[in-house]
Amino acid sequence: MHRPTPSPLPDDISLVPGCPPLLSAADGGDPEGWAAEYRGALRAAVTARGCVLVRGLALTDPAAMAAVFRQLSPALMADREPFAPRRRYADGVYSSSKWPPNQQMCMHHEMSYALEFPGMLMFACLEAPATGGATGVADAGAVLDALPAELTERFEKEGWYLARTYHDDIGASYAEAFGTDDQAAVARYCRAHAIDFDWQPDGSLRTRQHRSAVVHHPVDGRRLWFNQIAFLSEWTMEPEVREYLTDVYGPEGLPFTTRFGNGDPIGEDVIRTINEVYDAHTVREPWRSGDLLLIDNLRSAHSREPFDGPREVLAGLADPVRLADCAPTVEVRAA
Ligand SMILES: [Fe+2]
Repeated sequence: MHRPTPSPLPDDISLVPGCPPLLSAADGGDPEGWAAEYRGALRAAVTARGCVLVRGLALTDPAAMAAVFRQLSPALMADREPFAPRRRYADGVYSSSKWPPNQQMCMHHEMSYALEFPGMLMFACLEAPATGGATGVADAGAVLDALPAELTERFEKEGWYLARTYHDDIGASYAEAFGTDDQAAVARYCRAHAIDFDWQPDGSLRTRQHRSAVVHHPVDGRRLWFNQIAFLSEWTMEPEVREYLTDVYGPEGLPFTTRFGNGDPIGEDVIRTINEVYDAHTVREPWRSGDLLLIDNLRSAHSREPFDGPREVLAGLADPVRLADCAPTVEVRAA
């Protein structure tokens, strides 16, 4: 139904230090109708606050979650160039990335290494874990301000590199990452998306992509630390995992690692500093089944904490934004 004036939110958003902004919702058993009613106000709240956790919706199955995602966003995106596989529930609706439950997924922005990424993330909790497993959120503007100036100035000037090697037996294969096993189609994708690539003698694919580490929000122009420099660094891996991967694939053949924009390696101390600043700015709330967490993917980084027991959180990647529209600080040009 056409609504000339969006309904204001039915309740105040509760603000508790250390927790994401929380909205309690009563949908009368119709989460899709609730989402349609409050779409405008809810999206405005996400833009204003960086994230909003909605609790109380009758989100009990993937179909209801996908219907709410579609109400809240006019455009769901396909996952591209993932570093870990996801299960696909419906167009634009995925499981969370498959990642060892006992290992932290450190703070990152979804698809920050792509030329187009989601402006909003939607997470819906189908099954809350017994312990742990929260999705942490950190304000990317506050993180940028809190990082050492000499570090952010260097990254602002040089950008960052993501170096990947796609193997068949670990992480996402190139066929999973690019949606095809046709090497000519993968090559076309890479050229069109400003990714340098070469095929290795063993059939694996090695890529390097240069990106802006700092961007400006397309709505309010705010400067944001927006990248996966720390999360996709070899120094964020568990030491035994890094040693194993280096043994098996060699230092240049790791599934992923990151570099300064001039190609220099990034030291362990830099990665530790970035992750410590993220930790200091993290807000979190343990998942409850049926929770809906909406995140402005530019304004906020997110993480996934270690957990025990089954955990299923559906993810919707929404509202595509082009890097070119975020005033990147380094030039990134596709062929
Ligand atoms: Fe993520």
